[in-house]
Amino acid sequence: MPTFELQAASPADVTADLLILPYFKGHVPGPGVREAQKAIGEDLAGLLKEHRASGRIGETVSVPTFGRLKARTVLLVGLGPESEAGPAAVRRAAQKIGPRVAKFKSVATTLHQVGPAAESARALAEGLLLGTYRFDRYKERPIDEASQQPQELSKVTVLLKRAGDEKAVKEALRRGQISAESANWARDLVNTPALDATPEYLARQAQKMAKEVGLQCRVWTPDELRKGGFGGVLGVGAGSVNAPRFVEITYKGAGGATPIALTGKGVTFDSGGLSIKDSSGMETMKDDMGGGAATLAAMRAIALLKPKVNVIAAIPFSENLPSGSAIRPGDVLRHRGGKTSEVLNTDAEGRLILADALAFLSEKKPALILDCATLTGAAMVALGRDLWAVMGTDRRLIADVLKAGEEAGEPGWELPLWTEYRRHIESSVADVKNTGDRWGGAIMAGLFLAEFVDGAPWAHLDVASTAFTERATEYWPRGATGSPARTLVRFVEDYAANGSGSRARASKTSARSSAKAATRSRTTARARKSSSAGRAKTRSGRRA
Ligand code: BES
Ligand code: ZN
Ligand code: MN
Repeated sequence: MPTFELQAASPADVTADLLILPYFKGHVPGPGVREAQKAIGEDLAGLLKEHRASGRIGETVSVPTFGRLKARTVLLVGLGPESEAGPAAVRRAAQKIGPRVAKFKSVATTLHQVGPAAESARALAEGLLLGTYRFDRYKERPIDEASQQPQELSKVTVLLKRAGDEKAVKEALRRGQISAESANWARDLVNTPALDATPEYLARQAQKMAKEVGLQCRVWTPDELRKGGFGGVLGVGAGSVNAPRFVEITYKGAGGATPIALTGKGVTFDSGGLSIKDSSGMETMKDDMGGGAATLAAMRAIALLKPKVNVIAAIPFSENLPSGSAIRPGDVLRHRGGKTSEVLNTDAEGRLILADALAFLSEKKPALILDCATLTGAAMVALGRDLWAVMGTDRRLIADVLKAGEEAGEPGWELPLWTEYRRHIESSVADVKNTGDRWGGAIMAGLFLAEFVDGAPWAHLDVASTAFTERATEYWPRGATGSPARTLVRFVEDYAANGSGSRARASKTSARSSAKAATRSRTTARARKSSSAGRAKTRSGRRA
């Protein structure tokens, strides 16, 4: 992992193997290009024109400097139209050039001088770290060695425009680095084949991480899960020789304050169980613990960033395989807290393990609960490859999650938790069944989860589309993305910074302020009512 260093030097004077400078659509030079141009004695804007450079985000033109600059090469990088360029474009561009940049030992840049200094600096750090990520642990020879490339990027010099920005830029770089390194840590877990990444292995990684960053961690063994009534986690894992685990992690940053709660789906491999998938449907199913990994990664980042908030995370890990000991369609599982579910399709397993986790977290009376899961192919069908789906019982919480995703460059979109569809998951033998109508599958899954949330405002992120890319894209190599780890980190940072009291007040005002929001909040009020099955009244918590 490279280190980031601040320097108040002109791009013409900085020592680095590669100097990265931005330009915009229409061959418009960005910060630092004029200084470099003067020193090189070449018209760089003219060069962009000659190359027919469009200025697209992440487009590059490479210019040798023949000893006229300390940097041997200038890499000009497109950031789109100047009027729109900001942190999002900086993050995207940095991410896209990552693999090229990784071949140089030291680079210097002014990319972050586009847009608000601190936000763009954070985006730069995140983009470069996400973009230079590689997973070559399973190669006989690591990629670098095989291609005879020099050692990987070790230093990024961030050129300052104004000395006055130094403190804010430094802090933003640190935050970006922690956030992206944590996402990359999640990517390693997700990319690790299920042969090795068993529930026990992931629990051990969680423990190791917790120790390193100073978090409390408890791993529940199968016996403890039996005693604790975690029928979903045990049921889904019953077909595998790799027994389930449940990881509980606590972060304390705000004394006796009510904690917020996080959980994520940790299915280490999803074969579908007896309702087995076809072989192509299984190809990427080692990624079905992406939500769990992202939740662990968020806890790692939170421990390092130390926001003033308390957080509890509880992550179930099970492997969904068919065998003589596997659960069958028609089986009824008893979840943590006593509610039962009829398993009509063993491939709708994520909701079964999350049900236990949500019930368990509800017992802690948290201020809010967030879960993330590679839950349904339907969420992918609805929103495509770039967006996760969010559903929940609290308008303000959903708005905050969407905002965090936007800030992190990991956007999502809301789907309705349409409680009229609750009828589709009614069971004749149990409290609820694990499949609903074929149509609106992401919503059916959301409604199932809602049954197990008792009282706390709750939002559910379906990250089936974003946690993993089946094919390499402009920005990602094939494999895990770490999504939505950075969104969770942003959410928690914002939550801590905005203070709990102002959030509660803002929630009420915003619900009243628009007719649309009011309609939607009626819908979610119904969802909340049904989620507590008309028994337990919604706690009179500050966010209720
Ligand atoms: N893990 C899958 C969802 C998934 C599918 C994630 C494709 C990423 C890519 C989940 O457990 C699943 O199998 N869901 C079923 C639910 C159905 C049986 C009700 C689905 O989406 O088909
Ligand atoms: Zn699954
Ligand atoms: Mn499944």
